[in-house]
Amino acid sequence: MKIGVLGTGDVGKALGKAFVTLGHEVKMGAREAGNEKAAAWAKEMGPKASAGTFADAAAFGDLVVLATLGVANESALAAAGPDRLRGKIVIDTTNPLDFSGGMPPKLAVSGNDSGGERVQRQLPGAKVVKAFNTVGNASMFRPDLPGGPPDMFIAGDDAEAKKTVGGVVKDFGFNVIDVGGIEASRYLEPMCIVWVLSAVGGNHWSQAFKLLRK
Ligand SMILES: NC(=O)c1ccc[n+]([C@@H]2O[C@H](COP(=O)([O-])OP(=O)(O)OC[C@H]3O[C@@H](n4cnc5c(N)ncnc54)[C@H](OP(=O)(O)O)[C@@H]3O)[C@@H](O)[C@H]2O)c1
Repeated sequence: MKIGVLGTGDVGKALGKAFVTLGHEVKMGAREAGNEKAAAWAKEMGPKASAGTFADAAAFGDLVVLATLGVANESALAAAGPDRLRGKIVIDTTNPLDFSGGMPPKLAVSGNDSGGERVQRQLPGAKVVKAFNTVGNASMFRPDLPGGPPDMFIAGDDAEAKKTVGGVVKDFGFNVIDVGGIEASRYLEPMCIVWVLSAVGGNHWSQAFKLLRK
């Protein structure tokens, strides 16, 4: 499969690497062509990886990963071009975090709206699935944790798209918990702050959520 990754940060690099490791072709996009981080990442990953702009990555991917600064999603997606994402699955890994007041971050969008819903509204022709936003980038691919495979919460409006993303999530080493439509992003995005607070408090950076069940 061809994967477009919008984002040159730790998440874009980690998920891009995971897709390359599984044999997919990946193009990483940035605001500017020639972005140094994207170029260095592609060079390190080898022939299955390449770099370009957000628009290049959006056009390239059959499946596209959104891994941009959450409060900059709107401008990143405008640059990517909603028409280039029409009909495609978009995995939204982002959290609308506002660090302007220091730690802990606040949510720039909350209550009866969420970053995930905003992404879906901006991309009416795409099938947006929230995933990977509740785990740190160091544990996004086949995390080897003593408690076994962690859980990954996913949310989205399109059942087929969630089936596909669920398959990716399983391949990446997680159990899948589908919590409903994209509006469930309202509850998944604050979980990221719980993850950050517990990571900082206990100095646990390789940690992930898991529900225990009978
Ligand atoms: N870090 C984690 O472990 C983690 C875990 C789960 C979820 N998340 C979420 O995943 C997303 C990515 O996180 P990250 O740490 O990998 O990277 P990040 O630093 O949050 O975002 C980097 C990306 O955002 C783009 N960007 C920054 N400002 C922009 C603007 N004004 N307009 C358009 N694009 C802009 C950058 O573009 P350029 O490439 O052009 O610089 C870059 O590609 C975030 O929403 C974060 O909350 C992070």
